[in-house]
Amino acid sequence: MKTNQAKLPSLSFWLLIIGLIGLGVYSLVSSRQTSAIYDGALAMQAAERPGTVGKISFPEGGQTVNIPNWTLFGVGDMWSLTSRGNPLPAGFVAPNLVNTSVAHGDSDQPMQVQRAIEARLEQLFAAAENDGIEFMLSSAYRSVEDQQALYNSFVSAQGQSMADLYVAKPGTSEHHTGLSVDFASASAACESNSDKCSLSQAAAQWLLKNASTYGFIQRYPEGKQPITGIAFEPWHYRYIGVPLAKAISDSKLTLDEVVKQAAPGYAH
Ligand code: DAL
Ligand code: ZN
Repeated sequence: MKTNQAKLPSLSFWLLIIGLIGLGVYSLVSSRQTSAIYDGALAMQAAERPGTVGKISFPEGGQTVNIPNWTLFGVGDMWSLTSRGNPLPAGFVAPNLVNTSVAHGDSDQPMQVQRAIEARLEQLFAAAENDGIEFMLSSAYRSVEDQQALYNSFVSAQGQSMADLYVAKPGTSEHHTGLSVDFASASAACESNSDKCSLSQAAAQWLLKNASTYGFIQRYPEGKQPITGIAFEPWHYRYIGVPLAKAISDSKLTLDEVVKQAAPGYAH
């Protein structure tokens, strides 16, 4: 006799359902990762440059950072490499410069940074003050002419080989991009004359420990001169956004190494 009992779905049906749920969860997680590589200051750019074109994996520290778009490695952009081997093109103009509101040397004149880093810089200054460390910038954006003047005066004072260790040749300085700053400990002397600025040991240690939380890395670390071409500069920090800054900080790699491996087309 025939029965009207409903037939149970087959095993392959259930496997298909499980697969579809897994795919949905995976897409949700990866879209979160993609947006998480940006920090708030660059949310507008993130909206304009969605997607994931690759990943940067860090063996030490074990972190992975998504590459949303190759344009981030482009000249003057957040992950660009500016160095002796990667000069800026002639006529390069730093985009979106604004007068920073944080304390700085030569306080009677404005000091400029790229707009994308201003909010993070303010947060860093506030967090440091909470911890009893008061900062001032001794330098931020510099034009090619400013760099030339700095280079010349360093050569006169200390000789060319010392100048080449501490001052990038005009056209090869990150300061031209508005993405790098030099930190100093706050003082009246620094405020009136940026040549008189200096960074205390305690302030340098604070930066080393905390700057990546605000998207900045120490760009010329101790012992890395053969790679960066520049001597140890505890005061010079470069903005690259929070996720990559944290990953690079934990990995003990330099920006030079990371960009050359992750995006060799943008670094020679
Ligand atoms: N002091 C760094 C290397 C510069 O001049 O850009
Ligand atoms: Zn600097």
